[in-house]
Amino acid sequence: AIDPQFHENREKVDTHEGHDVWGPVDEPEELGIHGTHVAVDFDLCIADGACLEDCPVDVFEWVDTPDHPESEKKADPANEAQCIDCMLCVDVCPVDAIDVDAG
Ligand code: SF4
Ligand code: F3S
Ligand code: ZN
Repeated sequence: AIDPQFHENREKVDTHEGHDVWGPVDEPEELGIHGTHVAVDFDLCIADGACLEDCPVDVFEWVDTPDHPESEKKADPANEAQCIDCMLCVDVCPVDAIDVDAG
């Protein structure tokens, strides 16, 4: 599962579409965590798609990640500022790749 303490245990190494990327990143095999309020561990995401289907405010968008060992696309929290903290995405992700900091 995604480390809920990733803010402390990882470093910001980049930004992507206006959100933070938390390392380590070593493309294409290791992609890190995207987002801060809504965080997706790209190295865990298997492209299940439940988060995209269920998010009521369309926070997520697919990004292509060719040659990643788990999946060739990831749910990117492109619109994390729109999140209403409903926690649906956290509940439905089968690999617990998503952390929402509702505090
Ligand atoms: Fe969308 Fe709710 Fe997840 Fe926020 S907590 S990203 S609103 S599904
Ligand atoms: Fe990925 Fe989980 Fe969404 S596997 S596509 S973050 S439901
Ligand atoms: Zn991203």
